[in-house]
Amino acid sequence: MLFDSHAHLDDRAFDLDRSELIRTLPERGIGLLMDPGCSLASSYAAAALAEETPWIYAAAGSHPDAADEVDEETLDAYRTLIRGNRKVKAVGEIGLDYHYEDVPREIQKAAFRAQLDLAAELDMPVIVHEREAHQDALEILDDYPGLRGVFHCFSGSKEMALDLVRRGWYVGFTGVLTFKNARRAIEVASAVPLDRILMETDCPYMAPEPFRGKRNDPGYVYRVAETLAQIKGISFTAAADATYRNACTLYGIREE
Ligand code: NI
Repeated sequence: MLFDSHAHLDDRAFDLDRSELIRTLPERGIGLLMDPGCSLASSYAAAALAEETPWIYAAAGSHPDAADEVDEETLDAYRTLIRGNRKVKAVGEIGLDYHYEDVPREIQKAAFRAQLDLAAELDMPVIVHEREAHQDALEILDDYPGLRGVFHCFSGSKEMALDLVRRGWYVGFTGVLTFKNARRAIEVASAVPLDRILMETDCPYMAPEPFRGKRNDPGYVYRVAETLAQIKGISFTAAADATYRNACTLYGIREE
């Protein structure tokens, strides 16, 4: 069974066939799935999907692109949502994105800190989106030594990944691992211990080869597992099982 640890099933790319897709995922090998929110509205949508479907979990938070919505009222809404819904297992996805920089850096940083404070207050793991902001993200995390989480769709160096591992964090890999120019991602995945790796699709984006360019969906996460198995020199099942366990540990999901 596979755990897609980062899948935006609430995205409008799935509006036309969401129920049908969700129905078919167990037969395509998906055992568990985490749908992280990107905004308050998307967090409510993810939480609603999680309430409807036993094997779907959700996270609540504002992505750096939506950092300008983070104020006391929004934080209160997240607090209420997380406290009131047992299927919401993390704060996320939150972080810094200096690639697009849709929202000014100072606002992104303030929103990141405010949501890390919330995670600390509620004792929740966090899902971090970080792009071209490696230094700032790590400096902010220095102030939160008690927090744990995952850097999803990791794009940093091997050294940075190992720094995160030393801090007790997890590193998330997407279909980028299957791309022809994936040398760096492969180097990072070889260096990170298997017990700190999460697997994800980040759908509807980032479809793995040979589906690159198409709409991605959680059923394709097996391609990440196959590639990770090759990189680590282990079986597909060993890669699937380890990343499944890791995601359950991080998100505090107890499997019967
Ligand atoms: Ni995402």
